[in-house]
Amino acid sequence: MDFPRILTANWGLPELHRLPVARQRGVYGRLPRAFGMAPSEITQVVKDSGLRGRGGAGFPTGVKWGFVPPPEKRNGKSVYLLCNADESEPGTFKDRYLMWLDPHLLIEGMIISSRALDVHRAYIYIRGEFRFIARRLEQAVNEAYDAGFLGKNILGSGFDLDLHVHVGAGAYICGDETALISSLEGEKGQPKLKPPFPAVEGAWRSPTIVNNVETLAVVPWLIENGAAAYKALGTPTSPGTKLFSASGHIRKPGVYEVPLGYPAAEFLEKECGGLFPGRKLKAVIPGGSSVPVMTAENLLKSNLDYESMQRNLPGGDSNKIIDAGGSYLGSGGFIVMDDTTDMVEGLTNLLRFYAHESCGQCTPCREGCGWMYQILCRVRDREASPGDLLVLRDLADNIHSKTICFFGASAAMPVQSHLTHFRGEFLERVQHNARGAGAA
Ligand SMILES: Cc1cc2nc3c(=O)[nH]c(=O)nc-3n(C[C@H](O)[C@H](O)[C@H](O)COP(=O)(O)O)c2cc1C
Ligand code: SF4
Repeated sequence: MDFPRILTANWGLPELHRLPVARQRGVYGRLPRAFGMAPSEITQVVKDSGLRGRGGAGFPTGVKWGFVPPPEKRNGKSVYLLCNADESEPGTFKDRYLMWLDPHLLIEGMIISSRALDVHRAYIYIRGEFRFIARRLEQAVNEAYDAGFLGKNILGSGFDLDLHVHVGAGAYICGDETALISSLEGEKGQPKLKPPFPAVEGAWRSPTIVNNVETLAVVPWLIENGAAAYKALGTPTSPGTKLFSASGHIRKPGVYEVPLGYPAAEFLEKECGGLFPGRKLKAVIPGGSSVPVMTAENLLKSNLDYESMQRNLPGGDSNKIIDAGGSYLGSGGFIVMDDTTDMVEGLTNLLRFYAHESCGQCTPCREGCGWMYQILCRVRDREASPGDLLVLRDLADNIHSKTICFFGASAAMPVQSHLTHFRGEFLERVQHNARGAGAA
């Protein structure tokens, strides 16, 4: 399929992370046009493009930017832009490549976005384990300062912007935007109830936009090519291209950019290089570890866009989506499992992660994730009874939507979907145990 590579066009070029090569490839070339536009015009282009946030929820970026109160309603407070570079979800590894290979593209996106949002201090909040990427980002930021793309009076426009790279301590929960803000402020990295939404009251109780790395890196292309060119790619409700990080039992794991709406079967064959010889597709988690697992059959008839994945159902009721064979596009972490996969073992491993990473504020999540993990260990070890599967399902249903942040649902959906689609494998592990037989 022929389509413009918005994010990956220059990947693989030697020294792309250094300013001279980045500039040769057009990075920072969109700044003069952006500075010639009114801030509201930039926001309008982003709104018209239909760009949806690439951090997982797919919320329209321009709409989010529109929630920032106008200057007269800010009580003199500054607006902040935070780039969410936490990327700690199992199976998701696209942002780290973007920052490692083309850091100046992200910086250019942040400059243009800051101009649109009246931001004069912006941050890249990066996961603690990515210290080597943080160092590369810092080098790129320093180069951008030296060239006059950051700092005072950028390119003579009168616009000032300072950009800081902030390294977290390595906690998955700090990827949640409100936890990220608390962590940046020097507080414990724990989520907060919304509202207030960060766009109205975020970092230092000031209006704050949190956007994903990939989201911000798209902005220069939008300025150069316009909203209509972006909308011409993808589907009407999921426009543009998206990065997918493909892993698991495939011949070519990696990060691939494809237009949204791309057929999953084609992605598996062409981009991922297909399965290993003699293997059959069993399951795919299409959007990072937090989304429901799909059977091979359901995946192969899906397209890679938000609506197709959700079977055109509203996102709130994950059980309906799971029953319809769907999932979520999430962050695009495409985890492929062939017929050698033990689904009980896989889910147990996943729940170990969630039980460990729960921040502990909400009882359903703090206690529930640990219980689900313990039950799964017993199922895996053939020590559980059929009734335990009912308890497991009940726990997942009672965690979902009953917590402060979406982490609870992220831990529940893998359990709900595995028990729905791979029930036989779980039953097989418990059926020998007479206690509670028939209950499941
Ligand atoms: C537990 C948890 C972890 C998250 N991790 C990330 C992350 O690593 N990167 C990210 O961009 N968004 C992450 N999010 C989503 C953010 O809260 C937020 O929606 C996102 O950064 C907004 O950016 P976008 O509008 O560009 O998608 C996470 C959410 C939760 C609940
Ligand atoms: S859902 Fe879990 S991770 Fe999120 S705030 Fe509650 S306890 Fe913390």
